[in-house]
Amino acid sequence: MAEQNGEKDDQVDQKRRDLMKSIGLSMGALALGGVSAFNYLLPTTKDLPVMSNYPVAVLVDPEGNPITSSQIPEASPDSTVYPIIVFNYPLQDEPNILLKLKGTSIPGGVGPEGNIIALSGICQHLGCTVPLLMYFPHGHIPFEAQLIGYNENNWPEYGLLYCKCHGSQYDPLEGLHNLYNSGPAPSPANHSLPMVSLYVDPDDDHMYAMGMNSESAVIRTHLWEPNGEVHGPEVVKENLSGGTVLPLYNGSTPLSMASKISGNIYETIVVTSSNGPWPGTF
Ligand code: FES
Repeated sequence: MAEQNGEKDDQVDQKRRDLMKSIGLSMGALALGGVSAFNYLLPTTKDLPVMSNYPVAVLVDPEGNPITSSQIPEASPDSTVYPIIVFNYPLQDEPNILLKLKGTSIPGGVGPEGNIIALSGICQHLGCTVPLLMYFPHGHIPFEAQLIGYNENNWPEYGLLYCKCHGSQYDPLEGLHNLYNSGPAPSPANHSLPMVSLYVDPDDDHMYAMGMNSESAVIRTHLWEPNGEVHGPEVVKENLSGGTVLPLYNGSTPLSMASKISGNIYETIVVTSSNGPWPGTF
């Protein structure tokens, strides 16, 4: 049994070495290929015991076809519904909420109008995830938020991400500084939702997750706790150990990105709350 475990550990270690090698190649090639590396350079203050860098992952629909930024539905100030749009990153089982706001740009947003962002779907308070944490546009104030004093006059124009567990609130319009404490009740969370560094390839409009924004908070489940769990802006270390890496891109659609990097491209499936195939009707 010990021998079997040893073989398994060796296989896992080899996969990790391969991943780290391929990601290193990807980053170097991207820098050379003229694609800005600014958004996904790792902060030197974070501790990454397993992955030396984040994977480059193309966003695909459940059939494995890359989605385009133009396909993402938009939420406007008069929207009454918005689908849950989620993908895992940087590891499996780590949801992020994909969101596009109509008629406004967002700090750190991507796409032709700079209005597309992806924020962690893991609440920074105690870790509740989608769908307990989700986006509610201006025309859809959740019942739980109404109980703490929100109404159509004080629910922000472009809505909030609201966690039904204990009422944490995050303003997507503020990009990576999205913690919201301007409403009738304070947010139990004490820092913003981490922000995924997205990239839209101008050649084919395909979308990629390239890392976590180095200025944003650490993903709630990545808190590094050498001396006990720490919360707030003092958290500077991120622990990616023990997770499952994303699969390699397996679709038949050629990716323009493939000619810009020499390393592997991984994939992450975008799932929605809508009926029918992506992007469905909203
Ligand atoms: S876990 Fe989200 S508000 Fe507590």
